[in-house]
Amino acid sequence: MMSCPKLRNPNVFGVIFLVVLLGSIGVKVAEGRVTRGNDQHEYPAINCRKHIAYLTDFGAVGDGKTSNTKAFEYAIRNLSQYANDGGALLVVPPGKWLTGSFNLTSHFTLFLQNHAVILGSQDESEWPSFPALPSYGKGRDATDGRFSSLIFGTNLTDVVITGFNGTIDGQGSYWWNKFHKDELKLTRPYLIEIMFSNQIQISNLTLINSPSWFVHPIYSSDIIIHGLNIIAPIDSPNTDGINPDSCTNVKIEDCQITSGDDCVAIKSGWDDYGIKFGMPSQHIVIRRLKCISPDSAMIALGSEMSGGIKDVRIEDLTAINTQSAVRIKTAVGRGAYVKDIFVRGMNLQTMKYVFWMTGSYGSHPDPNFNPKALPNITGINYSNVIAENVTYSARLDGISNDPFTDICISNVTIHTVGKKLQWNCTDIQGVTSNVVPKPCELLPEKEEKFSCPFPDDKLPIESVELKTCYFRSVSYF
Ligand SMILES: *[C@@H]1O[C@H](CO)[C@@H](O)[C@H](O)[C@H]1NC(C)=O
Ligand SMILES: *[C@@H]1O[C@H](CO)[C@@H](O)[C@H](O)[C@H]1NC(C)=O
Ligand SMILES: *[C@@H]1O[C@H](CO)[C@@H](O)[C@H](O)[C@H]1NC(C)=O
Ligand SMILES: *[C@@H]1O[C@H](CO)[C@@H](O)[C@H](O)[C@H]1NC(C)=O
Ligand SMILES: *[C@@H]1O[C@H](CO)[C@@H](O)[C@H](O)[C@H]1NC(C)=O
Ligand SMILES: *[C@@H]1O[C@H](CO)[C@@H](O)[C@H](O)[C@H]1NC(C)=O
Ligand SMILES: *[C@@H]1O[C@H](CO)[C@@H](O)[C@H](O)[C@H]1NC(C)=O
Ligand SMILES: *[C@@H]1O[C@H](CO)[C@@H](O)[C@H](O)[C@H]1NC(C)=O
Ligand SMILES: *[C@@H]1O[C@H](CO)[C@@H](O)[C@H](O)[C@H]1NC(C)=O
Ligand SMILES: *[C@@H]1O[C@H](CO)[C@@H](O)[C@H](O)[C@H]1NC(C)=O
Repeated sequence: MMSCPKLRNPNVFGVIFLVVLLGSIGVKVAEGRVTRGNDQHEYPAINCRKHIAYLTDFGAVGDGKTSNTKAFEYAIRNLSQYANDGGALLVVPPGKWLTGSFNLTSHFTLFLQNHAVILGSQDESEWPSFPALPSYGKGRDATDGRFSSLIFGTNLTDVVITGFNGTIDGQGSYWWNKFHKDELKLTRPYLIEIMFSNQIQISNLTLINSPSWFVHPIYSSDIIIHGLNIIAPIDSPNTDGINPDSCTNVKIEDCQITSGDDCVAIKSGWDDYGIKFGMPSQHIVIRRLKCISPDSAMIALGSEMSGGIKDVRIEDLTAINTQSAVRIKTAVGRGAYVKDIFVRGMNLQTMKYVFWMTGSYGSHPDPNFNPKALPNITGINYSNVIAENVTYSARLDGISNDPFTDICISNVTIHTVGKKLQWNCTDIQGVTSNVVPKPCELLPEKEEKFSCPFPDDKLPIESVELKTCYFRSVSYF
């Protein structure tokens, strides 16, 4: 592990003198860099970096019009040489930095200053394409392949994307329009995708208008995500917030998400492709999430879950005007399991279904999916829920000959409006305690009051302590 540089040597911070003309968007580079001792910023990170550079060192122009794809590539290639020498931090200064897809490197921090905005290019030639993900077998929008993500990393270790509330704007409307007109031959890009990697931190940023999913860690482990403010129009297609996919040891805390699809969706591959790949999502903790998503879930488990989903601990959630809370989506053909799920503490305001499980979720990569690949849904615990202005308390549809089992629901108060059949249950089994309104007969109330379990041990990812890192910014005048 690297220790934090103490900033005793100002040379560490590179040598360029930036003059930003206030009130104009132009950035002019003059002969040297001025640093002011009191412009030292503190930020928490899994690792601090010894080397620092500014995006403008590599010819970038922050006018919102000039493409900086080459500048990002040049910068990150240059800084990758420090991977084994204390790592490097790339500062994205205030300005509007238009770019296509670019790749990250290991032992690297991308740092967006306040008022720094990375803009996703709407020129498709700036987006390379990849084959479909191995655990999906097909693209999600189009069967062929997929566009690379705006910020992409594969086979990396120790990567941080953070800042003082800078913004990454995917400018998704271009992609949403093409998707609606069915004009795309490849699956739309995601905003940030990290694949086959470990030790990842994504924090303190505003992410807006992704072309599709926002944050997609896949086949990765040891991931810390916090302080993200994610915003897309509530009618934008597939703008899921954070989708851990075949990932182990994930912590998601203090995020606010408004979107057109699930605020968080835990996944692990699709039908036979996911079963064969066999990589679960597991040991995941989610806390203090705030969600607005009128047509989707606050947290979905699935529908792609064919590598399995287990040991997920979810606490302190708030949803406003959201379709459902922590929803399970699966289908015949998916195989694998969703088990050992714990949810405690939800405050829900205006919702269609508080509890929703679906065993007949459509969308298959191949029409001839294996009818014998039945998912095993078991050990799903919910406690401490208050909900207002709810249409239906529960819609719990298991699979015939493959019921969802060991469902536990305790200490729940739901204020409903109107509908008669509050609990609609088929092919499920479980128990309830202290739940209003009265649950269905398949979820009998136990005589003695009890609380559904929630683990009191800590996951390894919860014990990771962030270091306090510093960097000194150049003065702008
Ligand atoms: C995020 O920002 C908050 C408030 O500015 C700060 O307290 C926190 O340390 C920051 N965390 C990270 C990981 O940058
Ligand atoms: C990139 O790396 C080289 C060292 O290999 C260094 O001399 C150079 O100044 C760096 N920065 C730029 C902008 O090229
Ligand atoms: C980015 O990474 C992908 C996957 O490794 C690779 O195919 C692509 O060439 C890389 N792009 C650049 C510009 O290095
Ligand atoms: C990345 O890691 C995966 C899994 O270990 C491996 O199959 C793949 O070949 C690696 N890709 C690169 C570009 O190293
Ligand atoms: C971050 O920026 C967003 C959008 O610009 C703003 O809504 C939010 O309040 C900011 N958060 C902080 C902590 O400054
Ligand atoms: C709650 O979750 C645990 C762990 O998966 C499981 O064993 C149990 O059956 C679930 N339901 C009840 C009623 O405890
Ligand atoms: C489903 O999981 C439970 C608990 O792990 C196990 O007892 C049961 O055998 C599994 N059922 C199937 C059909 O795999
Ligand atoms: C029941 O849930 C409410 C929040 O919804 C919480 O304040 C209360 O402490 C819970 N009661 C028990 C016995 O856990
Ligand atoms: C209650 O929910 C309905 C939709 O079912 C919504 O139109 C209405 O605004 C909500 N009322 C309040 C007070 O939030
Ligand atoms: C109850 O659920 C079943 C499917 O399991 C569905 O066919 C039926 O329409 C639902 N009833 C209501 C009133 O929503």
